[in-house]
Amino acid sequence: MRIIQTPDYNGMSIEVARIIAAQLSLKPDCVLGLATGSTPTLAYQYLSEWGNQWLDFSKATSVNLDEYRGLPKDHEQSYHYFMQKHLFQNVPIRPNRTFLPDGMEPDIERACQDYDDVIRYVGGIDLQLLGLGHNGHIGFNEPDTCFAKGTHCVDLSEQTIQANKRFFQSEDDVPRQAYTMGIKNILSARRILIAVSGKDKAHIVKEAFFGPVTPQVPASILQFHQDATLVADKDALSECEGLLP
Ligand code: F6R
Repeated sequence: MRIIQTPDYNGMSIEVARIIAAQLSLKPDCVLGLATGSTPTLAYQYLSEWGNQWLDFSKATSVNLDEYRGLPKDHEQSYHYFMQKHLFQNVPIRPNRTFLPDGMEPDIERACQDYDDVIRYVGGIDLQLLGLGHNGHIGFNEPDTCFAKGTHCVDLSEQTIQANKRFFQSEDDVPRQAYTMGIKNILSARRILIAVSGKDKAHIVKEAFFGPVTPQVPASILQFHQDATLVADKDALSECEGLLP
């Protein structure tokens, strides 16, 4: 795993945006795997600016990691809405080439099968962007007993519900389930880019990327990917001193 340390969140965001921009410039019709959450928002802001200047999004395709089950696309906390707001409405990406799981599909099997089919149909993911949950989750792949699966429906862990309740009016409004790409989909991406910022993630960064590979820390499997890059700020790497190359 390549590790890029940046001084702060802004530096991390520029670095992440640069790597995505380089991917797009080298292969304008590439497939970008995208993430939501607070980590990538500034990187998306840079990409939005560049997308109006010199960066060509018009041939790109995107597939997002996950979506809450039961939230309509226009719900302010849905990941559809997030992606529109932070990136898609700001750049000339074709709307019919941006994909997320359908949170409103009640048939779980169908929703998951359809999304696996989408990923196959677009030709697989060239570059997958990931954030890191405090419990080591990637997408909504929570600590588990095996690294399994393509797209599936998960029950959100108590820790994730607690972490996400800040975005909702009350804890009761936080959806309890989500559709997510599985570890199998994520590991199949040709390149992986993990973005992490902040002292509150320092412990899990050490565990995930310098500890044993275990499904109890889902992100730890990324240590085995042949082309993974971690971009993390100084705070996020503060417990890894002495371990960094
Ligand atoms: C979002 C996602 C999640 C987040 C993770 C970190 O699509 O899949 O795994 O990347 O929960 O979230 P933030 O960036 O808010 O700390």
